[in-house]
Amino acid sequence: MEVIVVDNYDKLSKKAFEIVKESIINKPNANLGLATGSTPLGLYKEMVKEFENSKTSYKNVKTFNLDEYIGLSQDNEQSYFKFMRNNLFDYIDIDFENTYIPFGTASNVENECVRYNTILEENIVDLQVLGIGVNGHIGFNEPGSLFYEGVHVVKLDERTRNDNARFFESKNQVPTSAITMGIKNILSCKKILLLASGKAKAKAIYEMIHGDILETMPASALRVHPNVVIIVDKEAASLL
Ligand code: PGA
Repeated sequence: MEVIVVDNYDKLSKKAFEIVKESIINKPNANLGLATGSTPLGLYKEMVKEFENSKTSYKNVKTFNLDEYIGLSQDNEQSYFKFMRNNLFDYIDIDFENTYIPFGTASNVENECVRYNTILEENIVDLQVLGIGVNGHIGFNEPGSLFYEGVHVVKLDERTRNDNARFFESKNQVPTSAITMGIKNILSCKKILLLASGKAKAKAIYEMIHGDILETMPASALRVHPNVVIIVDKEAASLL
C-alpha cells in the first residue's frame, strides 16, 4: 500500500486526478471504476475542469460504478445513476453506453447482481476509485461482508444510513438495501485508489492500514492487493 498524505481536500482531489489522468493517458480505452459520496466530488470537478480546458477524451473509456441503492430509479435525484450524470458524465465526452451502474429497480435483483458481475468479469477494471465509510466499508460492503463475494445485495448499516441521510430529505427516505460490487470484484481491479478526507475517517484509515485483516473491517482486505494507493488529508491521517 502506498500512502500519500496531503494538506487538505483540494490537494487530495488534485493528486487523485493526476493518477486518474495518467491511467487514461496511458490507456485511452481504460476501464475506470468509480465511486459516489462526497469524497470523489473534488476529483470529478478536476476531471470536468481539465476536460473543458485540455479535452482529455473519455470517448473510449468505460466506467463501472461500485453500487446503487435498491428501489431508486435512474431518474431519482438520489440515485447513484443521477449522481454520476450530475457530477461527471454530463460534462465530459463519455459515451453513456459505456457507463455501467447496477439497476436499482431491476425486477429481480438477484439476476441483476449476476448480470453486473458478468459485466465486471468481462471488463477488468484498470483503476478503481474508492471512498471509505466511517465503519470501514468500501462500496457498500459493510462490516461482516465476506471477502470472497462478488456483486451482491446488501442490507445497509444503520450507521451508513445515518451518514447518507444528509443527501435525502429525511433518514426515512434512505433506502435500506443496495446492490454492490463485492470485495472479490474490488480486489480483481488492477489498481485501487482510495481517498479519505476528514477526522471522521481517521479511525477507519488507521485500522485499514495497521489493524488485523478482518471481515469486520472491510477495507483491510485491500492489504492483500498488490497495487493500492491511498490518498488522505492530514485529518484522515491523524491517527497514523
Ligand atoms: P463519503 O462516503 O465520501 O460521502 O464520506 C464514503 C463511502 O461511504 O464510501
